[in-house]
Formats: sequence, C-alpha cells, structure tokens
Amino acid sequence: VAAKPSLRHVNSINDLQNAEIEAVFTLADKYLNELADPGSPHKVGRSIDVARGRVLATVFLEPSTRTRLSFESAMHRLGGGVITSADPATASTAKGESLADTVKIVSNYSDVIVLRHPRDGAARHAADYAQVPVINGGDGAHEHPTQTLCDLFTLKREHRRLKGLNVAVQGDLKGSRTIHSFVYALARFKANLMLMPAKGMELPAHVDARLREEFELKVAPKSAYADDASIDALYVTADEPHQLSLIPAIDAEAAGVDANRVDVIYVTRFQKERWTGEAKDYPKVDAKFLEAPKYRKSSVLHPLPRVGELDVAFDDDARAAYFKQASYGVPVRMALIALVLGIDGAPLGRFAGGFREAVEPLYDNPHGEGLGCPNPNCICHDPLERQHTRQRFRHVGGKLRCYYCDSDTTDFVLVDRKAGKQVAADARVAGTRNIVPFADAAAAEAAGYSPAEPSKRQPNAARQ
Ligand code: NCD
Repeated sequence: VAAKPSLRHVNSINDLQNAEIEAVFTLADKYLNELADPGSPHKVGRSIDVARGRVLATVFLEPSTRTRLSFESAMHRLGGGVITSADPATASTAKGESLADTVKIVSNYSDVIVLRHPRDGAARHAADYAQVPVINGGDGAHEHPTQTLCDLFTLKREHRRLKGLNVAVQGDLKGSRTIHSFVYALARFKANLMLMPAKGMELPAHVDARLREEFELKVAPKSAYADDASIDALYVTADEPHQLSLIPAIDAEAAGVDANRVDVIYVTRFQKERWTGEAKDYPKVDAKFLEAPKYRKSSVLHPLPRVGELDVAFDDDARAAYFKQASYGVPVRMALIALVLGIDGAPLGRFAGGFREAVEPLYDNPHGEGLGCPNPNCICHDPLERQHTRQRFRHVGGKLRCYYCDSDTTDFVLVDRKAGKQVAADARVAGTRNIVPFADAAAAEAAGYSPAEPSKRQPNAARQ
C-alpha cells in the first residue's frame, strides 16, 4: 500500500526539516510583501496565477472555519481551483465509505488534498492511499502542522527569532493537536517551554517523553519558578546539545533562562469533543491575568476558535496577536501549497534528504496478530478503516511508536514468527518482516511462541 515515493506529504510538523519550514516562511513573507492589501498589512489582498490549472481538494470530516477557508483562499490567491467536501453528513463517509477509498478517488480529481479527520493518525493513513500529496489539516488529538507554521510565522514576525524565546503553552495540552505540533517545532527551533496545563490536561506522555528524549529539552528544577503556581514545568533548550544531552535536568539560571519573563503565551480552548465530561476550573486568560509583570511584553497567541477562555476585552491590547495569527493562515498556506506542488520557486524536495525519512525498524502485522495501538482513537481502530490499516509500529528508543498516531508502548516483547520464539526486545534482528510485538511473555506464549533463549547456542525451540 506504499504511496508513490516521490510524493511529499505533510502529516506531522516533523515531516518538515527546519530548512523547509524556513523556506515556507521566506515565500510567505514574499507573498505578504507583494500582495498585501494596502489597508491591512496582515492580509493578502491580491492574487497571482502560478497555480493556474491546479486543483486543491479539501476533505474535512470535522468542523473547521479557519483552516479550510484559509487553505481555499490561499489556493484561489495562487490562481488555482478548489473542490471541497466539508460536511461529513453529505459525504460518502455517511454511506460507509472508508477514508482509504475516499482519498484514492479524490486523488483523481485534484493535485493536492488537505484532510481534517476526527481520528488520530488519519493523515498518515490517507497518505498511504493517496496518489497526490496529503496535507494534515488536523487529525484527532494528534497534530495540526499547518497551524504550527502559522504560529511560528507569527512569532517570527512579532519577535524576529524563535531561539531563546520563553513560550508558555496554556490550557488543554492533552487534547489540543495544535499544541503537539507546536511544542515539537519550538523545541527544534530552540525556544524554552513553560507548560501551563489546565488541571488534568497535561501533555500526553508520549509527546512529553519525545520532547525530552528526542528533541533534547532539559527539565529545569522547580526552584527556577517556585513562586509561580501557574507553571507546571519549565523545559529549557540545551545550547550545547552534545554535552548537555547527558544530563536530564538543567539549571535554568545557569542556562541563561529568566523564568520571570514570558515572551509568548499560547492559549487554547478546552477540546470538548475529545473529552467526556465538563472542564472544571478551566483557566481564563484576561487583562487582569496578563497584568503580572512577567507578561508585560508577552505576545498572546490562540489558534482560535475561543469559547470563553480568552477575554474579548483584551482584543485591543497591543499584545494580542491572535487575529494576525489567523490572518497569516493565507500567505503561509499559499507558500506551503506552492512548495508542495513545486509551482513557485523550488519544490520542497530540493533540500538534501527532502522530508525526514524514518529509518527505525517498522513492525507491520495484520489486526489481531500481537499488539495493537494503545490509543483507542487511533485511525487503526476505526471500523471503516480496519480492512485498510495494519498494526504498525516503529521501534524507536526502546519503545514502540504507532506508525499512525505516534502513541508509545513501553512494555512489550518481540517474537520471531518464523522461528516460533521470542527474541530479546533489544536484539538486532535481520529483517523486520517476521517480527511481531506482544504485550508480554505470557501473551506471546499463549499465542504459541516459546520464551526467548538465554543463549544462542541452545537448539532452536520449535513452535509449540
Ligand atoms: C484548532 C483545531 O482545529 O485544532 N483550530 C484551528 O484550526 N485553528 C484549534 C481548536 O479547534 O481549538
């Protein structure tokens, strides 16, 4: 089911290299400078025709205003055409059509697809079946990479840099897909992170672990922000990654981080569609909250929509950047479309290596054989997609990462299907084709796989 290898999909912000993200910003800046509405410098007010004859399809199976309309406006401004399926109730999904079939078909009608879907990992899955590039317009609670491009672009324009910025992320850190893409990007561009979750809405464990383990953020001791009850954790960028990567924690002061200064606060709404029950005590950000000295120069971002957590009375404050942020959706998405299609300047693929290729082993098995993804909202558990998905994991840093939704499984054993026995989880296996992960040794034995042998010299155990 592998998609055409030449296609450049944008499923995660981590599919884009830093240089590619910078290229999006350079082109977005150019569009904004050349095409801005004279009365409104944040708005693209004129069109060009570099995308003439090209068609963008928006397939939105979950509500949206900004993402879909700014993508469509962006394609119109580039001179291209747009087709859309924006109402799940009137799409063939309602008749029981799988996403895999939908994107295969829409590939024949368009040159690029933007997908929004309620399931985590839907964009990765769609990319397996599409014949044109798939851009993730938000998949469940997983990621929203193009929102992150808008967020970073806003920060660059407001602060002229990303490195060393103290960025507070606030609200529903668990359910907000915008936050997940955003924190990865901030870590990669060397910002410091202040985590300010609403109660019980901390970052998902796998996102948090990845920030520390893969993107080398260091945890600052509580003493660095002891007087501030709103901060749950402070993650500091390691300036000298090679030395500091050996130490899990860091002294914020020694690293030159002033925990009493917040350069950016990113507010999010309670993601009610991803939780059951009410948000009790969801924090509210208003002029009073932002009176604290550390917010004196903060720019305030919000992916929007807001539903009461960010006071409208703050809108006229010079620090409010969220309407600019929404407006930048057009030039940023124009740039992304142009680069993905390779129609204005060089395509993204010109960079050495192109998008990041996963090099870690992939275990790929049918449903029902060994372990499944632990995330119940993963696309692989969607009954409509069951025939088109598999139990797929990348073996990364001693964990299994779901190929679709990036959720981690930390406890598992591996078996070699062909040899009929378990193998050490850290064993170097010749190929991955016969490797099946199980939850534990008992589950593997129950499925007929004998325990791993202590020594290679013992005779091969036969399948029981
Ligand atoms: C976000 C989303 O859909 O995740 N909206 C958007 O695209 N700007 C944020 C949200 O819905 O809260």
